[in-house]
Amino acid sequence: MGYADDLFDLTDRVVLVTGGSRGLGREMAFAAAECGADVVIASRDLESCVMTAEEISSSTGRAAFAHKVHVGRWDQLDGLVDASYDRFGRVDVLINNAGMSPLYDSLTSVTEKLFDAVVNLNLKGPFRLSSLIGERMVADGGGSIINVSSTGSLRPDPHMLPYAAAKAGLNALTEGLAKAYGPTVRVNTLMAGPFLTDISKAWDLGTQSELPSNPFSGLDLQRAGRPAEIIGAALFLASDASSFTTGSILRADGGIP
Ligand SMILES: NC(=O)c1ccc[n+]([C@@H]2O[C@H](COP(=O)([O-])OP(=O)(O)OC[C@H]3O[C@@H](n4cnc5c(N)ncnc54)[C@H](OP(=O)(O)O)[C@@H]3O)[C@@H](O)[C@H]2O)c1
Repeated sequence: MGYADDLFDLTDRVVLVTGGSRGLGREMAFAAAECGADVVIASRDLESCVMTAEEISSSTGRAAFAHKVHVGRWDQLDGLVDASYDRFGRVDVLINNAGMSPLYDSLTSVTEKLFDAVVNLNLKGPFRLSSLIGERMVADGGGSIINVSSTGSLRPDPHMLPYAAAKAGLNALTEGLAKAYGPTVRVNTLMAGPFLTDISKAWDLGTQSELPSNPFSGLDLQRAGRPAEIIGAALFLASDASSFTTGSILRADGGIP
């Protein structure tokens, strides 16, 4: 193995990715398996989790386990944790990635149901999962928790305010969990900017005539990210390459102003 391979090696580690069936989660799960990890793919749609798990297994030779879960539902999270530990005996890396940011017409049109759904998925679920798994990681001698947040939490957009607030809560959670589960478990925020996944289709970039010709011209890199561009940052936080990094925010956002 080369020097970098060694640094980012995840051989025989177990990586659980919520929202691992599509988008950034799928990229991170694939990459973890490429580095030697067995993976748990969890989302609401079991069929797409199974498909992704099968693709990962056949392409990398690693074990991949699919589990159906709604991360916004507290009472379903024990089941995910138990199933993962039953299958693999441990979880070394938890990636709290499942998230959503529904748009709305005006702040007064935001219903309590929408607000609760956004907070439940982006904040409440990660809190509960991190608590359940963080405690077990400590008992098992260590681990890494990665909370996938958004630059929207630093620059709140009025069109996604409940989401921005939930992700800001997730940033706070990272710092507190790093204190709670250190020194053996590291907890970090991976803060994404605009990436071209299913989530970004809701931005409707093609049809909004008021948008400038390049809607990403305000970013230093002047473009949106390709899903695979999340991998380097995710592998850094998952692996021993980040052994002295905890409670931090790593931005992969093309350079937001
Ligand atoms: N893409 C961006 O521009 C961007 C920017 C900033 C931050 N982020 C953050 O990055 C993360 C991944 O985003 P993405 O763009 O990859 O999203 P995506 O393409 O829409 O994929 C979302 C994933 O989460 C799962 N999911 C959604 N709701 C769920 C629920 N209630 N319970 C369990 N799983 C659920 C989906 O599977 P099912 O539908 O099967 O449940 C899917 O696997 C999110 O936390 C998002 O907030 C993304």
